Amino acid sequence: MNVVTVKTKEEMSATASKLIVDKLRQKPELVLGVATGGTPIGTYEEFVDRVKQEELDVSSMRTVNLDEYVGLPRDHEESYWHYIYTHLYKPLKLPVENAFVPDGLSRDLEAECNRYEEAIESLGGVDLQLLGVGRNGHIGFNEPGTPMDSRTHVVELTESTRQANARFFNDIEEVPTQAITVGISTIMKSRSILLLASGQEKCAAVEALLDGKVDIEWPVTILNGHPDVTLIVTEDAYCSDKEDDHA
Ligand code: F6R
Repeated sequence: MNVVTVKTKEEMSATASKLIVDKLRQKPELVLGVATGGTPIGTYEEFVDRVKQEELDVSSMRTVNLDEYVGLPRDHEESYWHYIYTHLYKPLKLPVENAFVPDGLSRDLEAECNRYEEAIESLGGVDLQLLGVGRNGHIGFNEPGTPMDSRTHVVELTESTRQANARFFNDIEEVPTQAITVGISTIMKSRSILLLASGQEKCAAVEALLDGKVDIEWPVTILNGHPDVTLIVTEDAYCSDKEDDHA
């Protein structure tokens, strides 16, 4: 794993967006796997600025979202379709048919999961998967204990994940209880992975990953078995010795 330690979140975002732009220069029809949540917002902002400044044509890029809440319509402000539209498609005026997101309103969620896997395959797979990590080590919405061979599936969100995401809603009661997420094996099929981690609350997940072992209780550790992973991590996402003393 290529580990890049940076001082600030801004530096993390600048480094990540540069890496995405470099990939796009090599392959304009890049299939970019996109994460949502707080961590990558700065990366999308930097990416948008860079594309505008350098007048890059990114209209052939396709994006594949990692996950979507069950029960939220596309135009709901907290749907992940809306997120990626707001952070990438709207500012860059990109064609929305290039945005692939699971349909959380599907009447047949199982069929939707299969359709999504097939859609990814028909794009030729993900070239570069951008990932954040949950404080419990989840990637996508693959919570601890998720089988490593999982494909796109429906998950019941854990209380800790719902609480962590409640900050985006008016009330925890509004946070959906289910989501569709691409599976761990789907993520592992991506050709390259770019993982971002920032903030002290992520330190246990970062520590488990850097331990080098694969542990089903820390889904992010599966990345130790992937041949092309770059982790961009801010200094505050390492567990401090002081905290270890208290452990
Ligand atoms: C969202 C996703 C999640 C987040 C994780 C961290 O698409 O895949 O795994 O990356 O929950 O969220 P933040 O960045 O908000 O701390």
